[in-house]
Amino acid sequence: MATMSLSSFSAVLLSRPSQISNKPSRCFFFKPLLLTSSRSPSLSSSSNYTSPAQVRASSTAIVETEPDSILDAKEVSSSKKILACPICYNQLIWNGDHVTSADSAARSSFQCNTCKKAYCGNETHIDLIVASGAKEYGEVMAPATEFFRFPLISFLYERGWRQSFSLGGFPDQEKEFELIKDHLKPVLGGNIVDASCGSGLFSRLFAKSGLFSLVVALDFSENMLQQCHEYVKQEENFPKENLMLVRADISRLPFASSSIDAVHAGAALHCWPSPSTAVAEISRILRPGGVFVATTYVLDGPFAALPLLKSLSQNFGRISGSHIFLADSELEELCNACGLVDFKCDRNRRFVMISATKPS
Ligand SMILES: C[S@@+](CC[C@H](N)C(=O)[O-])C[C@H]1O[C@@H](n2cnc3c(N)ncnc32)[C@H](O)[C@@H]1O
Repeated sequence: MATMSLSSFSAVLLSRPSQISNKPSRCFFFKPLLLTSSRSPSLSSSSNYTSPAQVRASSTAIVETEPDSILDAKEVSSSKKILACPICYNQLIWNGDHVTSADSAARSSFQCNTCKKAYCGNETHIDLIVASGAKEYGEVMAPATEFFRFPLISFLYERGWRQSFSLGGFPDQEKEFELIKDHLKPVLGGNIVDASCGSGLFSRLFAKSGLFSLVVALDFSENMLQQCHEYVKQEENFPKENLMLVRADISRLPFASSSIDAVHAGAALHCWPSPSTAVAEISRILRPGGVFVATTYVLDGPFAALPLLKSLSQNFGRISGSHIFLADSELEELCNACGLVDFKCDRNRRFVMISATKPS
């Protein structure tokens, strides 16, 4: 399968030694064992926050946030206002119970008053893809998307697979979370969409941290969402009221324009069939000042300049429906092309964490 080839192709390149980014002015290199960044002295631990931060959320209220404590900011970014019809982007009307929770999806149904289309939840998530509800019509997505729909893949994902990303320079989960929070400082207290959340590794951490008024775990794979729901169920005292599971295509996000404070996309950019369409969608849903933070691989280094590698990676992308980034600058261009500014990046070997902001 094409995506399998991506893994093996990556594995060869991932095992190469560390390299310092050749764009030091805007990129921050950190070492695997001691995470440091010139951008922020408080990168390695959230306990470095010394006083409550005053943050702006959803452009509607100022909330005091005490990192790692539960926020009382539900009214700031009501889920009622953010969900939109993936066909026309007009707001969806909730029928019946309007209880946002990882458990309430089964009781939820929605109506688009413009398209007159109804959307329903099942026992684990709300299905908000365009073709939701179709019985006969089945669409095959790009291999890199279809691959993650297999039950075995979602089962294995957090049982060793995700951890193997460390071979490419991904930090351990705790450090990755610290880095993410650092990029998201300006929007703590608001709502967050964990786009292409997989089995919800970071969605669950976002929800448990209490740093966000609402967490939407979004993925195209039903099985990934089911696995996420399973993990949530297994955890005692999980704050379910803070989490909503949504099935959607990254190229057609079911949220109102300018309604989201933060979008996180962990290890997913390279799996999207069209990163530019996806980032344009992310840019559309972010409110002014909203932040996009993402991780992926950059396969740069001495071989990246070879014309052969570029055409190889393009051909591979055509077959697999995924994208191989060959330079940090490609990611910066992508964000800028989609209307996002203030590009930042942290590098460690093939791993990169980027963030960019919707202009205010
Ligand atoms: C490598 S996993 C990343 C999971 C998780 N975010 C993490 O940090 O480990 C990539 C995810 O992208 C999702 N994905 C691929 N194509 C997608 C699409 N078109 N729309 C939404 N999600 C997609 C897959 O289902 C998969 O869960």
